[in-house]
Amino acid sequence: MKSIVILISGRGSNMQAIVEANLPLRIAAVISNKADATGLEYAQAKGIATAVVDHRPHATREAFDAELMRCIDAYAPDLVVLAGFMRILSDGFVQHYAGRLINIHPSLLPAFPGLATHRRALEAGVKIHGCTVHFVTPVVDHGPIVVQAAVPVKHGDTAQSLAARVLQQEHQIYPQALRWFAEDRLHLHQGQVNVHGAQTLDTALRSPWEAS
Ligand code: GAR
Repeated sequence: MKSIVILISGRGSNMQAIVEANLPLRIAAVISNKADATGLEYAQAKGIATAVVDHRPHATREAFDAELMRCIDAYAPDLVVLAGFMRILSDGFVQHYAGRLINIHPSLLPAFPGLATHRRALEAGVKIHGCTVHFVTPVVDHGPIVVQAAVPVKHGDTAQSLAARVLQQEHQIYPQALRWFAEDRLHLHQGQVNVHGAQTLDTALRSPWEAS
């Protein structure tokens, strides 16, 4: 069975969704850069190994990343799963895990990379928003896309209400992407991901919607 290490910085609801999906994967460890990340308690309660690698004592990003790599590599995972890990990673780190590092981002990339994606989506007036699971490359919030989910932006939405609608989808697509990984169905070719045997729908999401 393949194994994964999950990196978190906070509440870890995506990590919980992954654990609760009972995937054919061994979760070797959950690692946080913050000792008070509430997701750590959940992982410990589930009997999963946890570790904290605090970024603050490290003078440089590279020094922190080197320590984090040592911690991750002790578990020898097949895939490193970023699940709300709120640190920008150095090129050296990303190259070390090339093709073995996956992230979830709360927007339909390449729209809205970076932070405050829901507020920025509302300000831009988009009618459809969503989330993306992608392999990580040195460019932040960039890299081969595995799967995306779209949701309507509703009249009167706040950043919080929109975030909650997107998060529900995050909890669906991240376990799905990892199941495909476990089943060896993700194939990276020329910077794009092919999911072997997956289907696509012919339906469209229109927002706002009115029957014609
Ligand atoms: C999620 O919405 C995730 O997509 C986002 O942080 C949240 C973490 O929630 N990640 C990023 O913004 C990464 N740039 P969680 O800790 O409950 O999974």
